[in-house]
Amino acid sequence: MNFRLLRLSILGLAVGLGAFGSIAYYIKHQAINFNQDIQRQLPELGGPFTLTDQFGAIRTDDEFRGKYMLIYFGYTFCPDVCPLGLRNISNALQHLGRDLDQVVPIFITIDPERDDTEALKSYASTIHSSFVLLTGTPRELETVFRAYNVYAAKARPDGTMADYLMDHSSLIYLMNREGKLVDFFPHTATPQEIAKKFISILFMRKELLTRKNKTALMVKFLKRN
Ligand code: NI
Repeated sequence: MNFRLLRLSILGLAVGLGAFGSIAYYIKHQAINFNQDIQRQLPELGGPFTLTDQFGAIRTDDEFRGKYMLIYFGYTFCPDVCPLGLRNISNALQHLGRDLDQVVPIFITIDPERDDTEALKSYASTIHSSFVLLTGTPRELETVFRAYNVYAAKARPDGTMADYLMDHSSLIYLMNREGKLVDFFPHTATPQEIAKKFISILFMRKELLTRKNKTALMVKFLKRN
């Protein structure tokens, strides 16, 4: 499916309906998604972080306010799960076109022992170029893991081998402009699923922001997304 085309046709449809003064009609017919979005119970995840990026610069979560964050926790030595999740995110980003500048993809290592800035820097070349890759001290990272309910542990805790594997949770978190959870995906989510969700949020927001009289439901949607 060509997403640029899809988005153009959705926009075209909205403009067409708008010409007839029927944006309300369109939104009404989106009401089911609306309700689902509002009523869906999302866990309270997310929180502040102060970490170091692949260039050695200190990065904090508050510099990303006003943008969405797509956050993935993993490690560069991961043989299968992380490469798949990161490939799906990278491909999703390629579907976003101009909307790409509204989202910051962030990779946070769960393996600071091996993932120093140098390791992150070389890993960056294997994923989408807009990724911010972050590492930190075990203590700094532990705080973030707790905030995002991330599980991470060496597969064999007693192993001293350098090529140890990590067991870890592998969700992709979509955070809103205020750093609150909007949605999450398994690492197996297709690029289309991820991109579609993000594009529809942006589209709906844009629609609602132009409306003068907003229902409580609309306000709730805007607040959440
Ligand atoms: Ni992994």
